[in-house]
Amino acid sequence: MFDISESYAKELDRSMELSEYRDGFYIPEGVIYLLGNSLGLMCKKAESNVEKVMMEWREMGIKGWLGGDPPWFYYAEKLGEKASRLVGAKAEEVVCTGTTTVNIHQLVSTFYKPKKKTKIMADVLNFPTDIYALRSQIEIKGLDPEKELLLIESDDSRTLDEEKIVEMMSEKVNLILLPSVLYRSGQLLDMEYLTKEAHKRDILIGFDCSHSVGVVPHQFDDWNLDFAVWCSYKYMNGGPGSPAFLYINERHFDKEPGLAGWFGYVKKKQFDMLLDFRSEKSAGGLQISSPSIPGFAMVDGALDVLLDAGIDNIRKKSEAMTSYLMDLVDGVLSEPPYNFHIGTPRDINKRGGHVALEREDTYRINLASYNRSVVTDFRPPNVLRLAISPLYNTYHELWQTVDHLKEIIDSEEHLEYSMDRAAVT
Ligand SMILES: Cc1ncc(COP(=O)(O)O)c(C=O)c1O
Repeated sequence: MFDISESYAKELDRSMELSEYRDGFYIPEGVIYLLGNSLGLMCKKAESNVEKVMMEWREMGIKGWLGGDPPWFYYAEKLGEKASRLVGAKAEEVVCTGTTTVNIHQLVSTFYKPKKKTKIMADVLNFPTDIYALRSQIEIKGLDPEKELLLIESDDSRTLDEEKIVEMMSEKVNLILLPSVLYRSGQLLDMEYLTKEAHKRDILIGFDCSHSVGVVPHQFDDWNLDFAVWCSYKYMNGGPGSPAFLYINERHFDKEPGLAGWFGYVKKKQFDMLLDFRSEKSAGGLQISSPSIPGFAMVDGALDVLLDAGIDNIRKKSEAMTSYLMDLVDGVLSEPPYNFHIGTPRDINKRGGHVALEREDTYRINLASYNRSVVTDFRPPNVLRLAISPLYNTYHELWQTVDHLKEIIDSEEHLEYSMDRAAVT
């Protein structure tokens, strides 16, 4: 019988691994923060790194490009090397650059050369920006997205059936872009299996790993992905609007970037200022513009913390904490009048770092929870997402969150809020 007592939650915290990392983060006073899958909290190391870069700018001006520590000119590649250790890639296959959407544009325009095979495959549960980018890439090639973009349907509006994805891999499909973890339900796809099946059919495949890097280990090279993108502001705790990452498998280093820009030029020759574009033969060749150095500094500090904690340890703890939360919801919130349903797959190998609770009125339950300083979020139509950061959340916070949700329903506090949605949820 699962123990739903508060004392058990506290006991779990006492034996909790990685608990020493919580002090390295700024936890807003009195707040239970369960939004590490949207914007991770600020870590002290990120803050001190930004201060260092500000000092370099103050004292060196433009000389920071070569005189900074690390030199700003090479910072994108340096962060690529660090992040490559998180995702099982070679240093030169990863670079910190742009934003997730821009990186999707870059990689799809680099890979998608429709001739006989013209279709791109994605899915109806994908984060919308990925779909917008794919549509515009198809249009740029003079084709009709209504015909060329195949969207895999979902039987339950939560998850994707991997066998169905494979069935749709026809000889007309040129390229596939899928999420690693679905942003709403938290389903984790088997990237290795899907990549193998795509390659059997001569289809290129990449993943948007925004909801998995920093909380789930990856082995991009072993799985043989063609490309990947991910942001750094979620489980990586890189800060609001922090620069994103891209991965390109080294067997594609000969491909010319679809979107050329001077930061992708052969590094040693960038300042020769020649008009003929020559790309660096690495992930760095896919950079476009001058990077944000304070943004890099934030990501750098946050990466140090992740690497120090170790991604396998983080995943182990994330699995334990998400399982605990699901058991608690089952035990306390599943029956009337609570009626919360867990939309996240139960199988530990099929889920990432957050738990999706469903109920028809989660929009206002989220507002009531926010009012109690429990920071969760709402995703339409009916999902309350609870994301656990193994580096700063505790079991006791999870217990308190479930208790708050119970009290909200008991007191009908959520009925005080309108169902009209605000601009940012
Ligand atoms: C899966 C996924 N992809 C892309 C994005 C958007 O990324 P960006 O704003 O960096 O382009 C998000 C934002 O939350 C996301 O969740």
